[in-house]
Amino acid sequence: MVKGYLFACTDKSERECLDNNLLGTSYVHGDAVLTLEPGDYLFLINLDSDKLFGPFHASSEGKFNLDTEIWGDRYPYQVKFIKDNESTAIDGAKKLLSGLGLKSNELLLDFEAEALSRLLKQPQILPDSYLGNGNSHGLKSLVAEESKRLKEIRKTYDTSSLKSKLLQKPRLETTTLWDFPTQSYGTKPKGSNKYAGVTPAFIIYNLVRRYTKPGDLVVDPMCGSGTTIDVCKEENRNVIGYDIVPTRPDIIQNDARRIPLEDNSVDLVFIDSPYGDNIKYNQHLESFGNISAEDESFYDELEKVMAESARILKPGKVLGWLIGDQWVKRKFTPVGFKIYERLCKYFEPIDVICVARRSQSSNTGIWHNRALRFNFYLRGFKYLHIVRKPMLEESKSSRNGRVKWAYYARTKANEQPKTGGEQL
Ligand SMILES: C[S@@+](CC[C@H](N)C(=O)[O-])C[C@H]1O[C@@H](n2cnc3c(N)ncnc32)[C@H](O)[C@@H]1O
Repeated sequence: MVKGYLFACTDKSERECLDNNLLGTSYVHGDAVLTLEPGDYLFLINLDSDKLFGPFHASSEGKFNLDTEIWGDRYPYQVKFIKDNESTAIDGAKKLLSGLGLKSNELLLDFEAEALSRLLKQPQILPDSYLGNGNSHGLKSLVAEESKRLKEIRKTYDTSSLKSKLLQKPRLETTTLWDFPTQSYGTKPKGSNKYAGVTPAFIIYNLVRRYTKPGDLVVDPMCGSGTTIDVCKEENRNVIGYDIVPTRPDIIQNDARRIPLEDNSVDLVFIDSPYGDNIKYNQHLESFGNISAEDESFYDELEKVMAESARILKPGKVLGWLIGDQWVKRKFTPVGFKIYERLCKYFEPIDVICVARRSQSSNTGIWHNRALRFNFYLRGFKYLHIVRKPMLEESKSSRNGRVKWAYYARTKANEQPKTGGEQL
C-alpha cells in the first residue's frame, strides 16, 4: 500500500534536504521511516518559515544512515526522494496540517497522503500562496473540503491501529508505568511464552530502541527462552545471549557471574533474573532460582552479575534489570529495593519503571479471595531498574565540550518546543 511521511526541517536544514534530495529524522521516529518504500509520498514542513514542500516521492527505501556526512548521527533514519513537476511549496503549513488533522514526523495513510498531494497540486495554488494573497480564499475552502472528506473516511477506519499495523512495532513508552497485554508483537515470535518467567518483548524493545543504535552489541546473561536475541535481531543489533541452561542453539551456556567478554565492550545489558526460588527454571545447581530471596546470599550472588555487567559495559552505557518483590507465607520481601540498593554500588540511576504483571498464575478468583480474607496483596507489578555505568572523568568533560548550544537557542526559557516533534 502506498503511504506517506511528513518530515520536518528548520531554516538551517531546509537547503540540506532540498539540495541533496534527502529527508531524515532522529531515532525516535526511525521505525516509521524504515517502512518507507520507493513511490511513497513524502512532504517536508519547515517549522521556522511555516512552509510545506511536496509532494515528493521516495526514490529509495527508508534506511538507517543512507548518508552519514550531512547530519552526522543526528538524523540517521533517512530516505531519498525525487521531485516532480507538480512539487511545490506553500505558506501556512501548520494551519493547513492542523485543518487536516495531520502531524509532522508521522506516517500518513494512503488517503491522508493523497489529500495532502491534491491540495498541493491545485492549479490555483501558486507557490507561497496559502495565507499570503488573493488565492488564499480558494485554498481555504479546498482545505475545508478535504478535511471533511478525511473526517468521513476516519469514521470508518481505526487510523491509529492501521498505522501501528503498518509499523508492526510497539510504541516507545513515555511514562514510568508500562502495561503490555501480550508477551510479544509483530509477526515473528520473540522468546517463548511457554517458558515460565518469559520477559515481555516490549520491555526489551523499549530499552534497545532508547539506548542503542543499529550495529551496537546487546548482552543478556540470563537469556531464558531468548526474547532478547529475537528482539535485537529484528532491530539489527548484535546480540549475545547466555544462560546457565540454554534452551536453544543460539544461547551460550554460561554462568552470569563470569561473562566471557572484554572490559568496556558492550552497549546494553538486559537482565530478567530469577526473583528468588519461586520458579523452578531447571535442575542446575548454580541457578539463582535455587536461592530464596529471603536469604542475603541471593543478593550477594546477583551482585557478582552486577559487577560483571559493569565491567563489560562501555562507560556511559545502560543496564536494564527486571525484578519483582516477593510475598510468601505471610512474609513480604522487597526484592526490588534490595536489588536497586546493590545496583547503586556500580551504576548511576537513570529511572525506575513500574511494569504491570499480567498472566500471573495467582490471577484467579481463589487467590483474589484469599488476598482479601487473609489481608495481603497479590503482586501487581515488577520493577525495571534502568542504570548507567558511570562515564570516565575525561570523557565526561570532552562530552560537555561537544554540546552545541546553538541547537537549543530556538526555545526560550520556560517555553516548550511548539511542535513536540523531532525536526531537522
Ligand atoms: C526470568 S528467566 C529469563 C527469561 C528470559 N528473559 C526470557 O524472556 O525467556 C531467568 C533465567 O535466568 C537463568 N539463570 C539462573 N541462574 C543463572 C546463572 N547463574 N547464570 C546464568 N543464567 C542463570 C535461568 O536459567 C532462567 O532462564
